Amino acid sequence: MNIKNKKLLNLVREIFIKHKLNYKHAKISASALINAELVGAYGHGLSRLKMYCDRIKKKVINPKPKIKITNISQSISQIDADNSIGFVAADIAIKKAISNAKKTGIGLVAVRNSGHYGLSGYYAEQAVKKNLVTMIYTNGPPAVAPHGAFKSLFGTNPVCFGTPSGSKTPFIFDSSISMINRGKIRFASKNNQKLPVGVALDNFGKPTTDANKALKGVQLPIAGFRGSGLAWMVDILSGVITGGNHAGRVKDPFEDFTGPQNIGHLFITFKTNLFVKDYNQRIKDNIKRVKRLPKIKGIKEIMYPGQNKYKRYKMNLKKEIKISKIIKKELETLKN
Ligand SMILES: NC(=O)c1ccc[n+]([C@@H]2O[C@H](COP(=O)([O-])OP(=O)(O)OC[C@H]3O[C@@H](n4cnc5c(N)ncnc54)[C@H](O)[C@@H]3O)[C@@H](O)[C@H]2O)c1
Repeated sequence: MNIKNKKLLNLVREIFIKHKLNYKHAKISASALINAELVGAYGHGLSRLKMYCDRIKKKVINPKPKIKITNISQSISQIDADNSIGFVAADIAIKKAISNAKKTGIGLVAVRNSGHYGLSGYYAEQAVKKNLVTMIYTNGPPAVAPHGAFKSLFGTNPVCFGTPSGSKTPFIFDSSISMINRGKIRFASKNNQKLPVGVALDNFGKPTTDANKALKGVQLPIAGFRGSGLAWMVDILSGVITGGNHAGRVKDPFEDFTGPQNIGHLFITFKTNLFVKDYNQRIKDNIKRVKRLPKIKGIKEIMYPGQNKYKRYKMNLKKEIKISKIIKKELETLKN
C-alpha cells in the first residue's frame, strides 16, 4: 500500500476510534473499508463510513460489544455479536471457522446480532489463504421483490464461494443476487450518476435508470425466479438458521435508525483434501481446461471469478485512492 493510502487508512481508523470503537475494532473496520476501495467496490467503501458513524452515534451499533462465542462442537460455533459493527463480528467468525476447519476438517460458524459487514469475498480470501474452501452468506435489508411480488423483501443477499486455485490468485465467486448491488445504486445516487437499463423498477413498477427512484422502488433479481430463489436461500441460511433477522426484517442501515440490524451471517470452511489427495492438481486442471476454450470475439482471456478483482487490487495498491468531493467533506466532518 502506498503512503497516501496508509494515511487514509489511519484517518479512517482514527474516525472510528473517535466514534468509540477500540483500537483493534477500529483497525479491522478501517482495513475492510479501504480494501473495498482497492478492489473497486466503491459502494461498500468510504461512501458507507458516515452511515456506520451515524449508527454508532444513534446507539444502533454497539461500539463496545461483549461478543460471545459458544463452541457447540469442535467444528461448530455460534457467535452473538451484541450488535457490534459487522466487520468485527465477521472478522472473529471467519477466524473461528478457519481454526475449527484446521482442527477437524470443517468449520461452521453462525453469527447473530451483527450488522452490515461489507464484502463477503474479503472474508473468503482469508480462508482461501489458509488453503480452505469456503462458503459465506449474509442477508440484507429489503431491496429485491420475491418472484411474483410487487414489494421488496429480500436483500441483495450475496452468494460467496472461495477455493484455492493452485495459483496466487484466489478463486472467489462473490455476487449479489440482484442485477447490480445496492451499494452501486447508493453510489450512483450520491454522485448523480444514471443506472444501467434493466436493473430496477420505480415505485410504480416502471423500469427506471434514476438511482433515487430505484432506491424507493424495487431492484430486479438476476435471472428472474432463479435469482429470487437464491435470495430466499441466503435469507434462510443467514437469517432463519442463525437466529438473525429474516423475511424483510433487517433494517436499512442508511434509513432506519429505530434499532440494530440484527443481521445473521453463516461461515462454512473445509479442507480441500477431505475426499481427494491431489486437490491442487485437480483444481489447476479444472481451470486450465476452461481457460483453453475458444474465446468469443473481443475476449482476450476467460477469467475465473475473483481474477478481475485481484488484478484490480494489485494495480490499485500502487495508486492513490481517489476521493470524491462529497467523501472528502464527510471525512473532514467526521474527524473533527
Ligand atoms: N454485505 C451485504 O449485505 C452485501 C450485499 C450485496 C453485495 N455485497 C458485496 O458486494 C460485492 C459486489 O457484488 P457484485 O454483485 O456487484 O459483484 P460483481 O458483479 O462485481 O462480481 C460478481 C462475481 O463475478 C465475478 N466476475 C466479474 N466479472 C467477471 C468476468 N469478466 N469473468 C469472470 N468472473 C467475473 C467477480 O469476480 C465476482 O466473483 C460483493 O463482494 C458482495 O459480497 C454485500
